[in-house]
This record gives sequence, C-alpha cells and structure tokens, in this order.
Amino acid sequence: MTCSILILNGPNLNLLGTRQPEVYGPTTLADIEALCQTKAAALGVDVTFAQSNHEGELIDMLHAARGTHAGIILNAGAYTHTSVALMDAISSIMVPVVELHLSNIHAREVFRQTSYIAPVAVGQICGFGAAGYPLAIDAILSYIGEAK
Ligand code: DQA
Repeated sequence: MTCSILILNGPNLNLLGTRQPEVYGPTTLADIEALCQTKAAALGVDVTFAQSNHEGELIDMLHAARGTHAGIILNAGAYTHTSVALMDAISSIMVPVVELHLSNIHAREVFRQTSYIAPVAVGQICGFGAAGYPLAIDAILSYIGEAK
C-alpha cells in the first residue's frame, strides 16, 4: 500500500503570499501544495493537503487521519500557541506528527515561543519558509521508516 501523509495547515495560512510577506515569504499556499505534491510524486508517497481556519475542523481532520495516514505534518498557525485541544487530539490519535512553521517562532514574540504542539510532536521544523514543507516530508518519512 502507498504511504499516505496528511499536511494540515491552520488559520490564516490560506492568505500566504499576501499575508505579511516580510515574515512568511511570497509563496502562496497553492504554490506550497504544488511543491509538496512534486516532492511526494518523486518519493512515491501520497500527500493529502488541507487547510482550515477552524480549530474544531482541524481536530476532526486529525481524528480522521487514524487508519488513513501514516504521518502528519502540522502547521497549526496561531493555534500552536493556544490550543490544548489540538495537543490532546495529537496525543489521542497514535499518528506521528511533525510540527512545522514557516517562520522561526523562537526568534519572534515571546507568546510565539510557547508551543502546545511541541511536547506531543516527534519533532519541529521552523524558520525555513516554504522550503520547510519538503524538509518536513523527509522528516516524517524518516521517522515512519525507523518506527517500522
Ligand atoms: C506560523 C507561526 C505562528 O506563530 C503564526 O501564528 C502563524 C504562522 C508559521 O508558519 O510561521 O500563523 O505557524
């Protein structure tokens, strides 16, 4: 069976390209999805790419990943810094999650330096802009490969 990865994007990431390009870069979310699909095709894995501005929808998508996806890449946007509910969802699903951010959250405002995702993720990639997405695909596949 082909390995399937879910790439989940949280609030305001639908606005990439026009949203604070000095922080998040000029690349749109559609560009990033294309980058991920090209990478996935080269590696022979399936990628499902999704975005929601709603915490509950993100939680529903995490739950639905059980039995469907071998791993998840999650850019939870601002929910990273607030959502115990997303943290609990990750703890509940038994699917490995790589935490991802375009910006280096550790070099920004103090409130962005706390992540509720980090303690329940297998690892974190941040600060590499759109290039972080293909890096995260390599990271989750390496983790899954070693866990087998
Ligand atoms: C972000 C960082 C978050 O602090 C912010 O709220 C975002 C984007 C990033 O990708 O750098 O929405 O997750």
